[in-house]
Amino acid sequence: MKPQEIVLELTNLGCLVEKDALSLMKEEDLFKIKELSVKPLLINSELVQNLHNISLEQLQNKTNSESERSEFKIIARTKRTLEGKVEFENPYVSTPKKRDVALFVKQFNDRFDQMKTLLLKRRELKNAISIANVNSNQKEVTIIAMVDKIYKTRKEKYILTVEDITGTIKVYCSPKYGDRICEDDVIGFIGKPGDGIIFARDVLWPEIPLPSHINATKDEVYAAFISDLHFGSKQILTKKLKKFLTWINSNHKIAEKVLYICVTGDLVDGVGKYPGQDKNLKYKDIYRQYDDLSNFVSSIPENIQIVLLPGDHDVVRMAEPQPPIPKKYIPELSQLNNVHLAPNPCYVNLHGMGGTPISVLLNHGYYYHGHIDALPEVRKQAEENPTKVMVDLLRRRHLAPIYGTRSTLIAPEDKDYLTINKIPDIFSLGHLHSFAYSNYKGINLICASTFQAETDFQRRIGHVPDPGKVALINLKTREAILKAF
Ligand SMILES: [Fe+2]
Ligand SMILES: [Fe+2]
Repeated sequence: MKPQEIVLELTNLGCLVEKDALSLMKEEDLFKIKELSVKPLLINSELVQNLHNISLEQLQNKTNSESERSEFKIIARTKRTLEGKVEFENPYVSTPKKRDVALFVKQFNDRFDQMKTLLLKRRELKNAISIANVNSNQKEVTIIAMVDKIYKTRKEKYILTVEDITGTIKVYCSPKYGDRICEDDVIGFIGKPGDGIIFARDVLWPEIPLPSHINATKDEVYAAFISDLHFGSKQILTKKLKKFLTWINSNHKIAEKVLYICVTGDLVDGVGKYPGQDKNLKYKDIYRQYDDLSNFVSSIPENIQIVLLPGDHDVVRMAEPQPPIPKKYIPELSQLNNVHLAPNPCYVNLHGMGGTPISVLLNHGYYYHGHIDALPEVRKQAEENPTKVMVDLLRRRHLAPIYGTRSTLIAPEDKDYLTINKIPDIFSLGHLHSFAYSNYKGINLICASTFQAETDFQRRIGHVPDPGKVALINLKTREAILKAF
């Protein structure tokens, strides 16, 4: 085979070859390169020597072996001209403390205070008074209260029991509001007081006001959003992950502008997470599961900043706020400057290079199903597009407003870390194994996809995943691109 023919074949494979390397190359090397699951961008003489030291058969066996430690290793990668910057905003830090009822009460009081601060920004609620100061002689009153109980009458009206730190009162309201109210919601009520009751004419949530401007970076850089990698599972979609790695390491005009990757949890499949999980696991050793994650992440160019959150399948406690993955499970990754181990949930500021950064709210989203179970109105919207549930949470300004659902897992802490006390520019959830994108009042909303195929458990419950999709947000224009692998 003539050298020109080899160059042509390699170009078709997306590989560039150095002159010295070309002089060393034999025809068989070309077949070996074709066998590589991730094609090198640049072939140098060192790579050719390595190819000479391995037979084609060995290479084929290696490529076919799913559990090879080196399966994600990349030989060459593109250089990025810009640097990224990641800063966490008031992140949750786990401290040893006595987790008792008193701490739980403190957390709920903090939640009430945070929500009240948000509600008082609404013009209509400026004159809110305490429940203790409500009396039936007043023409109209405004209160801010937490919903304790909800009772629906036969005539489809609602009678709520609500409270603040000064007392408890009943609120009567129409289905227009009642259908949307959930237990533990902190909301504003305006209405005529009666004896121990307020007849509400208006009910107000904190909401997201219309933005005065859209935050954007000066540089044209992208943030990629993925989730639910589930390393260690037999259903992991290795080919799709490799395609993603090939792309992110390529000189594709968008790939080389990706400076950030956010991963919203379920990094591994975990062990003992549901009955019968063993038969779906490649290995039951949690350290090996995280080793696969490390191989994958360390194959991403080192000048991309990677934010890793835990999810319910990870090794940390399931209750939120979840602390970051402990370094002992990922010693290799914890040494890398571009890998940021984050708590779940967290606010992260991207690319604050002398200007306003892009604020990103990340949450795994375990609570999601409990929320739609409790609120039929919201469930209807969720069937259309799961990002509608994200809008509902944004309007309530809380990531898990109902304490008592089957999916509410909140750890007692001295403050509430689940209040959406700052309006983010981007909000991303994982956990659903579906992909959805939309925007709401200038906020990019992403239900990030998975890299795990359908499991037998999902099949039983009729959930069809939508894997291998990556949302890319251009931080300069805030436009979104969907890339499927
Ligand atoms: Fe998951
Ligand atoms: Fe999950």
